[in-house]
Amino acid sequence: MNRTQRATLGGKLSAVLVAAGSSVGLGNIWRFPYVAGNNGGGAFLAIYILCVLVLGLPLMIAEFTVGRASHRNAVGAYRALDNKWSFLGYNGVLAAFLILGFYFVVSGWTAEYMVHSVTAELAQYTTAEEYAGMFERFIRNPWRPLLYTSVFVLATHFVIALGVQKGIERSAKVLMPLLFIILIALAIHSLLMPSGAEGLKFFLLPDFSKVTAATVLTALGQAFFSLSIGIGTMVTYASYFKPETNLRHTALNVTILDTLVAVLAGIMIFPAVFSAGIEPSSGPSLVFITLPGIFNGMPLSMVWSSVFFLLLVVAALTSTISLHEVITVYLHEEWHLSRRGAAWTTTGGTLALAALASLSLGILDGWRICGLNLFDSLDYVTANILLPVDGFFTCIFVGWRLDPKVLEAEITNQGRLNFRIRRIFAVLLRYLCPAVLLLVFLDNLGVF
Ligand code: PHE
Repeated sequence: MNRTQRATLGGKLSAVLVAAGSSVGLGNIWRFPYVAGNNGGGAFLAIYILCVLVLGLPLMIAEFTVGRASHRNAVGAYRALDNKWSFLGYNGVLAAFLILGFYFVVSGWTAEYMVHSVTAELAQYTTAEEYAGMFERFIRNPWRPLLYTSVFVLATHFVIALGVQKGIERSAKVLMPLLFIILIALAIHSLLMPSGAEGLKFFLLPDFSKVTAATVLTALGQAFFSLSIGIGTMVTYASYFKPETNLRHTALNVTILDTLVAVLAGIMIFPAVFSAGIEPSSGPSLVFITLPGIFNGMPLSMVWSSVFFLLLVVAALTSTISLHEVITVYLHEEWHLSRRGAAWTTTGGTLALAALASLSLGILDGWRICGLNLFDSLDYVTANILLPVDGFFTCIFVGWRLDPKVLEAEITNQGRLNFRIRRIFAVLLRYLCPAVLLLVFLDNLGVF
């Protein structure tokens, strides 16, 4: 495709906003608290932050480099730089498809909770058991989650169909700061609950005695999932960046924002979890059981709840858009479908997978893959296998195979910016990141 035909994103802020829009989502507010709760709290948080800084940040810069150097979709980008490495792009497109399979389902739940907040239905219950019962009944129902998931898929389709500039940029710009403010308010409220201090201790005080190889892999997978790396999203988005966008600053800002939102979500959830007597290891249902309890104790509870779930819906939407875009632009540029046709194909395929994943929590629960239902398998395989594997090969590709002049030109904006951290960056990307990723993998396979 002709480079001049491709859209570019607006000013300096836009690059940060769209990339942060992709990163900040259900991964921070739904997935992070549940995996942190499953993996012992404080120690998980410490390992997670280490993974973000040491592995996530350099990898995001590497993906930005690949995207902007080639101005192509994830597959085309790797192919343009080195034909043999296009498998990394395919891995990304596949991961995006599989992630959407469960992500759309959880997005549908947030939409349903938003509606229940507006109609004040959520306010009917009071105890954690009642909320847990309500959530169970809801996800097992064959129709209602499907309905909300479909609405969500169509909303994503609508934004994608509007095109890159209008759709993605505008929706990312509007409600992100508001999400931040409401998270801070809810975190403060939660800390003032009866067992607030106990919850905070669980989340912040590390107890490394419980850490296993699986904990480290989970933290790593969560870091990649939350930052949207190892999947081609950042390659795709960077292909729309302007020549003057500073890749390092953009990556740093996105990483800081994303981590702050995850930590705030933890500070909001765990004090409330302990105060309501919920098990922190309750799994994917954790926030859906905990949040309504937080709102219940607040004045104007349903107003808070409605606004919060609305913002969560928006955060989820800016992430589903980025995942959808990876597949759409791949089909458009590589298969030469029209952009509309590519978008509809992606929408149809992901909706079918999401419908199966949603039903796998109810009537299709009997379909098991290695003991997990489809919903949990999609979550596990993408975060714990596809994303880290992609990350490993991206390090090797950008660190060893890519022409260093290309890397240098992208990072310094053709020599206009200085690159003082060149040595550290090279050591991280060439040695430390691939070594850590490999060790964590081998350790999980029981090699040591
Ligand atoms: N990072 C998003 C979130 O945390 C999810 C996502 C993963 C988006 C991978 C794009 C690519 O919710």
